[in-house]
Amino acid sequence: MAATEAQLQLAHVLPLGSRVDARGHLEVGGCDTLELAREFGTPAYVYAEEDLRARARAYVEAMRARHDDFDVLFASKAFPCTAAYRLFAAEGIACDVASGGELALALRGGFDPARIYLHGNAKSLAELREALDAGVGHVVLDSFDDIERLERVAHEAGVRQAVLIRVTPGVAGRTHAAISTGQADSKFGFGMDDARHAIERLRGSDTLDLQGLHMHIGSQLLSLDAYRPAIEAIATLGEFPVYNLGGGLGVAYTAEQHPPTIEQYVEVQVIAANELLGPGRKLLIEPGRSLVANACVTLYTVETVKRNVSTWVGVDGGMSDNLRPMLYGSRYEAFLADRVAAAGSGERCHVAGKHCESGDVIVRDVPLDDPKPGDVLVTPATGAYGHAMANNYNGIPRPPVIFCRDGDARVVVRRETYDDLAARDV
Ligand code: LLP
Repeated sequence: MAATEAQLQLAHVLPLGSRVDARGHLEVGGCDTLELAREFGTPAYVYAEEDLRARARAYVEAMRARHDDFDVLFASKAFPCTAAYRLFAAEGIACDVASGGELALALRGGFDPARIYLHGNAKSLAELREALDAGVGHVVLDSFDDIERLERVAHEAGVRQAVLIRVTPGVAGRTHAAISTGQADSKFGFGMDDARHAIERLRGSDTLDLQGLHMHIGSQLLSLDAYRPAIEAIATLGEFPVYNLGGGLGVAYTAEQHPPTIEQYVEVQVIAANELLGPGRKLLIEPGRSLVANACVTLYTVETVKRNVSTWVGVDGGMSDNLRPMLYGSRYEAFLADRVAAAGSGERCHVAGKHCESGDVIVRDVPLDDPKPGDVLVTPATGAYGHAMANNYNGIPRPPVIFCRDGDARVVVRRETYDDLAARDV
């Protein structure tokens, strides 16, 4: 079927390889989303597996074309799901974890511990022990307390642990305040002066082996302007073999957003790093959102349509499967799975979640083509920080994760049950 204008506008928001079939239904990973909704129920997170793989490869190829010694890390907080760890491990990339729980999942997913990087601004003694027991390649130090504690754990374990120091370069990327991290007044990392002291301190450590610096200046960055000044700042801290430049590349949640490409992002980082940090460094980048966000759509079923001052389209999920509109005021697209050609036209509606809060609105003011109970509604670009931040508010079981590829769909995380809700009762 010829691509309609609506499809073209949405194409960069949808998973790679998505299409509209002859009946006008959205197809993801070769699977009809209406059939997926029928087979697996809704809400459901539906991922195109090939999209995940293609983006991992795009990062690796973009780095390989510009730099010899590098690694791409999956910032797994964006999608901490065993199947995703397994897929990215098989793609040969490395991994960043932000807790003992993510570490356990990464190991379960088959990541080589040597290629795992442990982050965290408040790591516990237990998490540090777990990391060293597992043989994690690098721990990214975030505070003087962290240094002291890790020295203790490394001493107990009788190992010399490779570490990076996380620096807040005093340069913040332009994004929502809750996900901006490069500014001096941050709970993350060492400020520039403290970083100098931490470097000094580690030079004399016999248990910790300082290999380099880490920075992550913010997330969902739609402009690359802040990276070079941030790299310029950390360059003043001395020369190191390894630099981790963080993640942060923004994605298109809506049709009008056109973020920089993976190639442009890598280009800016690598050029600045080579010029400012010196040649021959090992460069690490750790994308999360831009690896996984657009690979997924959430499918909901419309339960009610209520017309008062506005038209309220009530669906069977909401802030339990997507907290982002409530936390960051994030905007999404929405359309009906069997009327893709009509995306962007119709009555203006608010897509409301089913939770007991007025703020539980997934998308405000979105045109929908005559929505009715029973319709399957699609919100694209929900692959990052959706499953990751899902919760059970109002006793709603969390959705399944479905991987689709070449027309085959498989459940990689099943839907929660009411028994799961009581599974921890004692
Ligand atoms: N590295 C570090 C140290 C990070 O803290 C993060 C994200 C990343 C890498 C990956 O950043 P990305 O490529 O995904 O931008 N829940 C929020 C996002 C929080 C980001 C936290 N750190 C959201 O839904 O927008």
